[in-house]
Amino acid sequence: QIKACLFDLDGVLVDTAKYHFIAWRRLAEELGFTFTEADNERLKGVSRMASLDILLEIGGLTPAEAEKLEMAAKKNAWYVEYISAMDHTEILPGALKLLQELRQNGIKIALGSASKNAMMILDNTGLTPFFDVIIDGTKTVNAKPDPEVFLMGARELGVTPAEAVVFEDAEAGVEAAMRAGMRSIGIGSPAQLGQANIVVPSLADFHLAQLRDLETDASR
Ligand code: G6P
Ligand code: MG
Repeated sequence: QIKACLFDLDGVLVDTAKYHFIAWRRLAEELGFTFTEADNERLKGVSRMASLDILLEIGGLTPAEAEKLEMAAKKNAWYVEYISAMDHTEILPGALKLLQELRQNGIKIALGSASKNAMMILDNTGLTPFFDVIIDGTKTVNAKPDPEVFLMGARELGVTPAEAVVFEDAEAGVEAAMRAGMRSIGIGSPAQLGQANIVVPSLADFHLAQLRDLETDASR
């Protein structure tokens, strides 16, 4: 039986990818190279420093560690400036309804995000009260696809991995769920998230009944 749902934040509940993108692009421009929206796809679900490494690889730069920390701090300051203006209108379609339905059905809810800015985003969008447990980048050591974030979430909720389902938009996140021994719902395209048990284009296309279907589908 499914007792809990663990949600990734960026790209599942809110569309922060666009803010990450303009902040990384601003950094790239300052460093003298172009960073495209297609490049940005590679950063989804990837931690801040790992994202910077990918960006620098695209720009062909190899700065020293101290410089890299400065760059990451700069990007984050811009990003925080953008997300501080977020409000409930930036919650993605279907997210609120699903969270409400889960609550009404007694299913526990946790956040499992790599972001160190998750609390600010949840507070600004008014999503915080939905969560029984919040695990974000300030609490974890290992980034997805490591299962740490989801295992920690399940443990704090008091459920086993088999009783938990993960909602993810990134390949690394779906892999993290699998490694945690949890089933997953991919939000996006089947081409990218084929490893997930179910893939839907957005949360608006996911229904509670599909969670029940997962329970009876013991094959996966
Ligand atoms: C999420 C996003 C990534 C982001 C990471 C760290 O996983 O999908 O794009 O790099 O969080 O976010 P932070 O807010 O800590 O820089
Ligand atoms: Mg994500």
